[in-house]
Amino acid sequence: MGLGFALVGSSCATPSPQTTESVAEATPTEVPPEACKPIDSLTTASTRVKDLIAQMTLDEKLGQLNQAAGGRSKSLNSKLTPEELEKVRRGEIGSYLHVAGAEPLGELQRVAVEESRLGIPLLFAMDVVHGYRTIFPVPIAMAATWDPEDWKQAAAISADESSAAGLHWTFAPMVDIARDPRWGRIVEGAGADPYLGARMAKAQVEGYQGTDLSSPETILATTKHFGAYGAPTGGRDYGSADISEQSLMEIYMPPFYAATRAGTGSMMTAFNDIAGVPTTANETLIDGLLREKWGFDGMIVSDWNAIAELMNHGVAATREEAGVLALKAGVDMDMTSNVLPADIRNAVQADDCLMQDLDAAVARILTAKERLGLFDAPMAYHDAQREKETLLSPQHRQAARKAATRAMVLLKNKNGALPLSSSPQTIAVIGGLAEDKMTQLGSWRAQGKPEDVVSLLDGLKQNAPEGTRITYAAGAFPKGDGEATLDTAIATASAADRILLVIGEDYDLSGEARSRSDITLPRNQAALAEAMFATGKPVTIILVTGRPLAIESEAAQADAVLNTWMLGVEAGNALADVIWGKTSPAGRLPIEFPRRTGAVPHTYSEYPGGRPADPDLTKDTNRFMDIPITPLFQFGHGLSYSQFEYGELNAAASTVQTGEDIILSIPVTNTGKMDADEVIQLYMRDPYASIARPKRELRGFQRVNIPAGETRTLTFTLSPDQAAIYKSGQGWVVEPGKLEFVVGASAADIRSSTEITLTQQTITGTPASALSTRTRIE
Ligand code: NOJ
Repeated sequence: MGLGFALVGSSCATPSPQTTESVAEATPTEVPPEACKPIDSLTTASTRVKDLIAQMTLDEKLGQLNQAAGGRSKSLNSKLTPEELEKVRRGEIGSYLHVAGAEPLGELQRVAVEESRLGIPLLFAMDVVHGYRTIFPVPIAMAATWDPEDWKQAAAISADESSAAGLHWTFAPMVDIARDPRWGRIVEGAGADPYLGARMAKAQVEGYQGTDLSSPETILATTKHFGAYGAPTGGRDYGSADISEQSLMEIYMPPFYAATRAGTGSMMTAFNDIAGVPTTANETLIDGLLREKWGFDGMIVSDWNAIAELMNHGVAATREEAGVLALKAGVDMDMTSNVLPADIRNAVQADDCLMQDLDAAVARILTAKERLGLFDAPMAYHDAQREKETLLSPQHRQAARKAATRAMVLLKNKNGALPLSSSPQTIAVIGGLAEDKMTQLGSWRAQGKPEDVVSLLDGLKQNAPEGTRITYAAGAFPKGDGEATLDTAIATASAADRILLVIGEDYDLSGEARSRSDITLPRNQAALAEAMFATGKPVTIILVTGRPLAIESEAAQADAVLNTWMLGVEAGNALADVIWGKTSPAGRLPIEFPRRTGAVPHTYSEYPGGRPADPDLTKDTNRFMDIPITPLFQFGHGLSYSQFEYGELNAAASTVQTGEDIILSIPVTNTGKMDADEVIQLYMRDPYASIARPKRELRGFQRVNIPAGETRTLTFTLSPDQAAIYKSGQGWVVEPGKLEFVVGASAADIRSSTEITLTQQTITGTPASALSTRTRIE
């Protein structure tokens, strides 16, 4: 199947081919009218939804497509004025975003169901991305747990809290694969790898939606941003993704597919275009791939103002044209641009197929409301008592602390510098980020409040062992504000036994529209680091960041580097748990850290090419002249306070036919002194295929707790379909031949390998990375 995603086509079926003669003979009145393409969501809708559509006026239908802003993140509900309530009464609004609160939203819902003509309930939405009031680590950090169960639990808690606050719908998970850390939104996703990304996508959908979407404790997930939003040229947010069909299908699509299979109730289209076709107008991708091929039956919402922005893209000259393109492509709800509600009326009236598209969009929106139980119990989400008891409950804080502890990645640990000894000593905490509570909330903080956060500094002070003295000086803040001075920091550090240097980016340097051309440390952070190294004291870097940073020089000079990302409300307590060895760090990088900005984008999973990189500069190969070919810290990298020895990777059978499983097992022993988690990673390579295959592809992983001195055997069970190659025009093809498997502690730290042979060719309908490898621990 060639996708042909460069085409923006019509949603009316192409009329049956006619011979040249018959066209020549036909008079205008004899040309058969174009048949509208049948639309599943219209036929499969419930009787209630069909009945409602039959009763709705054109204006009421258009109103359902309208998602209006009820405020902005900082001023929730501020736009819900009496005039706005009138619009609700007239049926002009289908949904609000940036609203919250059991009581105010309850009143709004009451107006919709009791005072509008048809009593259709409203949908209330917000970006609840890594917590509602109990803020968890930022998404890239959640992915660094390498444990989908952690994400699932965080998403379930987020659903519990936000539904208690009157919300039905979150704009999460963000599943965009991203390989360019200049892109600020890398903080919002699961990193660089489609297999890891697909696991995390599924886990989040399951967490938000639970097993019963109509329960008032679950909310509708929005998997976003459908297309290839994570591949903007140059890492500049919103930029065009000029990628191949191969990359689109093998790298960017698998998490969306996995989310579809997990039952995501909605998806959001990306702002950007792929090779000139904005995804918001891409009928081939939305209606063709997502709905027809994958069977996605949920609702699609545009991104903020994105329908109107089709004019900026240059694919629509007027608002009407923009709206028609989006509706035909399969977008159902218009986030804030007001184009679908206000500008397509005439076009729809003049075109039966478009009218059918409109009905289908309304059907999908009403079906989402129905799945949430809103027709039967519209007030179920408006229990103010529940709201009070649920938000920031002790259990939720506990879960946030656990997730934060599990998300940290120990990048370097020379001579066991960490954990810190609990013998009496003075530790200088240096760096303004240590006291910055806002930063721990990261990008998208929903209703997270800085006053809820245990700062890194407070956590260290409150959990320090007896006899340990914590001193503090800010030295510098990433944005250069505050009263901090280097002199005080140097004096404080010089009087201590060791330095915990808290440096990095603050919350405002990553996230939407926060691309950076240089991903080294902000200048004053680097200066602070140099001043600390110059004291001659042992320095441990506590890195705070939403993206991989190029910290080659700082990492070389520090004894230890602990990457803490941005950890949420329990940041400081979690840091203390790891710093003093209550628990061993076991987070792993979901994306590599480059040596320099100029080395991005790069992935362990690149194609080998004809002249693979060779460190020998006398040879002309695929490398830089000025830096080593390897990243500073590899994908999957993360150290432990313990040590692990891997045994032999064993394949249950050396040849595998279609329908049989590939079964691989490996024993891993904790040879250190501390009980700890290890993340065991399985990578695959297809050494000879009809098209070149990546050097390595993640195909399985498991975070396993192994007590000191004990061995666990991990068994991976895969299907041959997980080796399928996307072939344009054919689909997913499993080619017979050899497959190499390696197991290791990162994409570069390989401990054992084996190979098997697939004996048959098969064609599957599934992106290979979207399929999950089963694991068993014994
Ligand atoms: C724009 C962002 O791209 C999207 O992720 C978000 O959900 C919407 N704004 C709504 O806030």
